[in-house]
Amino acid sequence: MRYLVGIDLGTSGTKTVLFDTDGKPVAAATEEYPLYQPQNGWAEQDPADWWAAVQKTMRSVFAQSGVNAADVAGVGISGQMHGLVMLDGQGKVLRRAILWCDGRTARECAEITETIGRERLIAITANPALPGFTAGKILWVRRNEPDIYQQCRHVLLPKDYIRFMLTGVYATEASDASGMNLLDVTTRGWSAEILGKLQIDPAWMAKVYESPDVTGTVHKEAAAATGLAEGTIVVGGAGDNAAAAVGMGVVREGRAFTSLGTSGVVFAHTDSVRIDPQGRVHTFCAAVPNSYTVMSCTLSAGLSLRWMRDTLYAAEAEAAKEQGVDPYIPMMDAAQEIPLGADRLLFLPYLMGERSPILDEKSRGVFFGLSAIHTKAHMLRAVIEGISYSQRACVDVLRGMGLELGDMLICGGGGKSPFWRQMLADLYGCPVCTIESTEGPALGVAILAGVGAGVYPSVADACDGMIRKNAPQQPDHAAGAAYAPYYQLYASLYPALKDRFAALSEMK
Ligand code: XUL
Repeated sequence: MRYLVGIDLGTSGTKTVLFDTDGKPVAAATEEYPLYQPQNGWAEQDPADWWAAVQKTMRSVFAQSGVNAADVAGVGISGQMHGLVMLDGQGKVLRRAILWCDGRTARECAEITETIGRERLIAITANPALPGFTAGKILWVRRNEPDIYQQCRHVLLPKDYIRFMLTGVYATEASDASGMNLLDVTTRGWSAEILGKLQIDPAWMAKVYESPDVTGTVHKEAAAATGLAEGTIVVGGAGDNAAAAVGMGVVREGRAFTSLGTSGVVFAHTDSVRIDPQGRVHTFCAAVPNSYTVMSCTLSAGLSLRWMRDTLYAAEAEAAKEQGVDPYIPMMDAAQEIPLGADRLLFLPYLMGERSPILDEKSRGVFFGLSAIHTKAHMLRAVIEGISYSQRACVDVLRGMGLELGDMLICGGGGKSPFWRQMLADLYGCPVCTIESTEGPALGVAILAGVGAGVYPSVADACDGMIRKNAPQQPDHAAGAAYAPYYQLYASLYPALKDRFAALSEMK
């Protein structure tokens, strides 16, 4: 019997899953780690925590399953996109990683736009310069931490750091590399023009592969640390959303999904490069060679709900944990008790600033309409509705680009709740459905590893053989009509507050 391993390096934790070649999970383990927020709007993690989590979870899946590591045909890694890991000439990490939801680089993004020219940048990379993307972070370190910049010899994305620890190879792949503002998405290689104009040494950049390509093999020390067999192949893998797409069978034009993880993503697969000229949604290379994706990213989807859990619902969450219940289940029950519209309370989910569709790192969260009648359950319902409105706003942008979203698949923690899925079906006005496997990104990269190892002929063939949809939840058009005025009010709040957010960001 042969097996495949998928590692998903998320923001709240790392999940490692051992699959059989039918895509069935044999064993899984998750390990959480801290998110550091040294300033309002900044977000960092320690790559050492990621590597410790990978070692621990890998050992755990072998211990749970009793599978012989020599029977693993390949490993795939999926990861939170855009984060900057800087290494010196010996491969030592120079500072904490600056993450995808960090908003410190507005000045550097303006500098990139000025240096390259907005249109030229979009023509090459398919995206404008965005805080969150990697190039601005490199320039931020150059400006603010010159000592560290002097020592830098390699820049890696989060999952590519794990690849380096497993194989000793500096490599990446096109789906994740397209979120750096440095890749030519048409040729799927680094843009010499952009690197040159930004004066970033091309020697720092990892070799770019396609997602199913073999990038290296597990070396002796990594084998000893993880329990994997020395020589096991590690494929390119993918950024977490591109990986989830493979894990959900979103590998052909006309297929789409929503992911409610820490971030919220609406993702559509495309056969050609499709760009929103306003840059409100991102165009990236897909994990399927020669194809592309258009996707939105909101920064605080699950993050807003976790914030509610850790602040207003901490006692309930603790009690649920003691009973072995997922704390989000009683929270969803409490939110369902509150009427649609939360008795006239709205929430803007901009706790870390926002990317899609407003592109404003200065924006922040807002409860609008708070009254003395409101309870914390009203606030909870307003948070869930606000996150859902923000996804609907992204769906509007994608539909406006002429993308067919058809049935909307859903994954991520938020997708587990039938209540939340129904809210999205009502707001999107289309069926929303889960697939049988709940392993999204980990399954996606395990499939890529299977293609790299020759277990499957192609990504699409593997998906056709193993991905099954569950029955969809149909939209309730009466509920959709009831949400409509709330959604319109929601959509009008950001333009009214834009300047006030800018003023707030100037406060000492
Ligand atoms: C995508 C994005 C997030 C991260 C973390 O552009 O920033 O989805 O990949 O999940």
